[in-house]
Amino acid sequence: MKNLQTLYLLPLLALASLFIKISGSVSPRPVLTGPHMAYLNSRVAFRCTAPDSSPPVTYQLMRDGGIPIATGIDLQGDQSAPFFLKVAATSEGSYHCKATTEGGTGVSNIITLSVVIPASNTRVTAEPFPPVAYEGSRIILKCNVTRGSHLSYTWFFNRKALTSSTSPLFHLTGNELVMEQATPEHAGHYSCMAWSMVQDNTRFSSSTEVKVTVKAYVSKPNISFSIFKEGDGYQGNITCWSTRGSHPVNFSLSVDDKEVGSLTANESLTVWFLVAMVPGMDMGVARCWVKTEMQELMSEPVTLEVVPVGGDVTAEVEYLYRADSKPSAARLRCVVSRGTFPQISWLLNNSVLPSETNLDVQSQDDLTHVALANRRQTLVLTKLTSEESGYYRCRVRNSYDDSGPWVESGDVLVRVTDRILNSMPPATSSTETAPKAFMNPTEIITIAFCCFLLLMLAVGVACVYRMFDHNQAHAHIAATNSDPLPLTAPSSQSGDKQVGISSAD
Ligand SMILES: *[C@@H]1O[C@H](CO)[C@@H](O)[C@H](O)[C@H]1NC(C)=O
Ligand SMILES: *[C@@H]1O[C@H](CO)[C@@H](O)[C@H](O)[C@H]1NC(C)=O
Repeated sequence: MKNLQTLYLLPLLALASLFIKISGSVSPRPVLTGPHMAYLNSRVAFRCTAPDSSPPVTYQLMRDGGIPIATGIDLQGDQSAPFFLKVAATSEGSYHCKATTEGGTGVSNIITLSVVIPASNTRVTAEPFPPVAYEGSRIILKCNVTRGSHLSYTWFFNRKALTSSTSPLFHLTGNELVMEQATPEHAGHYSCMAWSMVQDNTRFSSSTEVKVTVKAYVSKPNISFSIFKEGDGYQGNITCWSTRGSHPVNFSLSVDDKEVGSLTANESLTVWFLVAMVPGMDMGVARCWVKTEMQELMSEPVTLEVVPVGGDVTAEVEYLYRADSKPSAARLRCVVSRGTFPQISWLLNNSVLPSETNLDVQSQDDLTHVALANRRQTLVLTKLTSEESGYYRCRVRNSYDDSGPWVESGDVLVRVTDRILNSMPPATSSTETAPKAFMNPTEIITIAFCCFLLLMLAVGVACVYRMFDHNQAHAHIAATNSDPLPLTAPSSQSGDKQVGISSAD
């Protein structure tokens, strides 16, 4: 049975091959070339080629469902058929071509064409809008276009292009720029560009700039006050300030929990309020408040009471010693028993020290090494020489009343001796006042030597005297015995007297 079937089939196959040979050629194998992407409204060309086909060849460009859209005929052979196309929005889809010869019809590869719409009317939108946010919150910027496809986005921050790799402060995804936790560094001007590229042809559209503001939270306000004289009365100057925060900040002042004033700080973070004050009277408890849309903060309370200077004023001295226990400096303190705003000045030997100097000032004649600190409450003598010694005292009055009386302390003596403190040769005036508590070995040796010399001298003088005395006595005796002394004969009495005196020795 099987063999019989094969026998029938063989002639059929032979017939078929014969038919192909008569027709002269095989069916064409066309190739379609053309773009995969094209801008809307641009012109593109597809080409269909069927190599090694015998002419005439009929080419047809077909759309997705096999709909022919254009036809061309190659009469010479080995020529491609171009199909020009103006790209419309509807041009998107897949294309292939068909080549028909006498030998048959061939179908090409498929090309899918995407229509690229260039970006237009690009703008930045923000969340929140307007892009003003407190530090730590999230800000999202979006690059939006009215029209456009196949878009890429580039962001600019203060005119510099951002990339994910070089800008860790930002998170870039699609058309979004995300600042997860905004910091003051994020504040600035942003813009974006939407662009597309087809082959080497780039089309872009840029937005205008958008300003992003990152607000800093206001720090807890501080409060302080001062007082000054105005006419017959006094004014209190209450200052409220914060060390950080974004403008504007609204400061309010309350006294005994009643609001007495409110001011907005637009440039600095400091405001001040003036209130009438009476020294010696408690004017209440003041506080500063800060109000923003996000925060409400309150300062520490301050009692508006100005205690006038009074009670005892004393000056104290303390010496500072070096490692070899020699005093190197002295610190004087003016202790005032009461007074909120004391003004202090210092006197040495009844003359006022130049109190404006807060630094170590060198002056030729007066004091050389004086420093004032702690609002002149402390006077430091940074060097101790005879120029710094003397009687010191301080005096105090209310700083807000220049015509008020001074309250003075008693004198404290700062004693300085150059010889002890410095290895300088002693000044002539201070040698007398220097205590003789200490002598160096050279001095001791010198004095001992001098004493020895004196002693030797005394002994020498005594010896010489003794010798001289002896000789004189012998001479007298010789004279009385040998010579009758013709000239002074009657004066033998006196000669006896002399002997008498010397012998009595
Ligand atoms: C109040 O005090 C502030 C400093 O704390 C000062 O800048 C301001 O000038 C003072 N105002 C008056 C009127 O004295
Ligand atoms: C201050 O007076 C004392 C005692 O009269 C004197 O020893 C000292 O040198 C004087 N000091 C100055 C700097 O004039």
